[in-house]
Amino acid sequence: MHPDIVEILLPADHIQARIREIGLQITSDYRGKDVLLIGVLKGMTLFMADLIRCIDLPLSVDYMAISRYGPGSQALGVVRIIKDLDSGIEGKHVLFIEDIVDTGLTLGYILRNLRYRSPASLEVCVLFNKAQRRLVDIPIKYKGFDLPDKFVVGYGLDYAQMFRNLPYVGVLKADVYLGLVKK
Ligand code: IMP
Ligand code: MG
Repeated sequence: MHPDIVEILLPADHIQARIREIGLQITSDYRGKDVLLIGVLKGMTLFMADLIRCIDLPLSVDYMAISRYGPGSQALGVVRIIKDLDSGIEGKHVLFIEDIVDTGLTLGYILRNLRYRSPASLEVCVLFNKAQRRLVDIPIKYKGFDLPDKFVVGYGLDYAQMFRNLPYVGVLKADVYLGLVKK
């Protein structure tokens, strides 16, 4: 285990097994359709890479990048799109892929934005769900795991852009984010 991790919540093989189940479910639900998977950089990249290999459908992927405004606007979940999708989504079956949902503010804002673009359908697939701090109701169609209200890293999730490469999800030592350990 990495020395900055106190506890592993989800071992790598649990994550992979659950992703295979979600992939099978998506394959069966979208049978006969083309599906467009959309993700917001960067946290979902590991999930996207593993999930698409478990989906047996004609599919394409596209990505957005956002930046958050200051603390005031964060309360509204308002984000600035710094890289938009490469193509339009009108008339397409869109599956939005997200690594983790906490308050739901970010995802709520992005979903409203995508709905304006008139996709044929828009569903949400989230690997990690932290329901305790939810402020905005998010209609989650596919969910990997419920997590406790703890700050976690690994499998794409970062602290200060680090730890994304851990194959498992673990709780970060408080020392690390309190700045007691020099990185
Ligand atoms: P929300 O708008 O509060 O739902 O925030 C979601 C975003 O916060 C995610 O896309 C992550 O980037 C980040 N986030 C929330 N909880 C965690 C965590 O436990 N570890 C790492 N990032 C997190
Ligand atoms: Mg994210």
